[in-house]
Amino acid sequence: MDREIPFMDLGRQYREHKKEFLDAVEKVCEETAFSGGKYVKEFEQSFQEYLGAKYSAGVGSGTDALFLAVKALGIGPGDEVIIPANTFIASAWGAVHAGAEPVFVDCTPDTWEIDASKIEEKITEKTKAVVGVHLYGQPFDFDGVKKIADRHHLYVIEDCAQAHGAEYKGKKAGTLGDIGCFSFYPGKNLGAFGEAGAVVSDNKQYIDEVNRLKDHGALRKYHHDVVGYNMRMDGIQGAVLSVKLKYLDGWNEKRRRIAARYRAEIKNPAITFQSVPPFVLPVCHLFEVQAKHAEDFIAYLQEKGIRCGRHYPLPCHLQKAFHGLGYKKGDCPQAEKLAENCVSLPMFPELTEEEISYVIDCCNGYTE
Ligand SMILES: Cc1ncc(COP(=O)(O)O)c(C=O)c1O
Repeated sequence: MDREIPFMDLGRQYREHKKEFLDAVEKVCEETAFSGGKYVKEFEQSFQEYLGAKYSAGVGSGTDALFLAVKALGIGPGDEVIIPANTFIASAWGAVHAGAEPVFVDCTPDTWEIDASKIEEKITEKTKAVVGVHLYGQPFDFDGVKKIADRHHLYVIEDCAQAHGAEYKGKKAGTLGDIGCFSFYPGKNLGAFGEAGAVVSDNKQYIDEVNRLKDHGALRKYHHDVVGYNMRMDGIQGAVLSVKLKYLDGWNEKRRRIAARYRAEIKNPAITFQSVPPFVLPVCHLFEVQAKHAEDFIAYLQEKGIRCGRHYPLPCHLQKAFHGLGYKKGDCPQAEKLAENCVSLPMFPELTEEEISYVIDCCNGYTE
């Protein structure tokens, strides 16, 4: 094996824009604007404008964003929150950390996103919200979810951790539901130089509450109205994210081009793609496929020097952390099938045409 194709290589992006990044970091250091402050405010302003949202709050991580969103909506002990079984576990942590119970729903067999038709049977008088996840960077069936949410007076919380810039019927992910939650974990389409996240909404009250809770329960220094947390965004993250936001659309376009090549040129009956409804604009955070004998496929690609991932090999409802909730195998069959078959191919904007061709050739050469 004489070549290596990484699953993701953040170094290429860093080296390309190094001077701009380091200049931004230096400014924060010179001005010692380390926690919250001017650079976080600047980023909040440009991010909400980019999305078309009225208000936003920079926070410490995507997990913080989900937690603070759930708290701002007044959800807590005794409440239930509907969450897709096929997602990263943090989609559930917001509700769990706020004291609510997560209720897991299966995904569809074709889009692999939350199955709106399975939500209603899970609703009880305790249900307060649905967390819809724009998984892999592709918007979920928002209208389907919203219809049921409206019928039962539930909030819709969008988990946009993988979907910066994605669109559903021309509207940006994060601006569809009651409140949108973003992660800027370094590997995301818009990634910080450490941990960071944001909550966005058109409802000022929600964002005021997030701002109060994230800063020790105080909107006025040393006046703590409620029990709060330290979940603020760092100044360095705000400054770096402002630089990166200018490049986001270009990077997302490159991701879409890579995805388009994979879809058009991988012709192997052992490999299936996620279906993409015509009214969504995905941002291809991950390029997930289903492969028969996924572990063998991954080992075969590894042999060829291609590094893959798996998102996610164990669905939320079968995680040990939720053992006490009483779920068992067979409760969410589509999510379980996906967990068995899922493989994430290399996906990052700086992949070269030649590398993409090599991945495609190797996928086409795979035999079960
Ligand atoms: C779907 C999803 N939700 C939530 C999170 C949590 O974000 P963070 O790692 O910034 O806490 C992530 C990423 O890690 C994610 O992929």
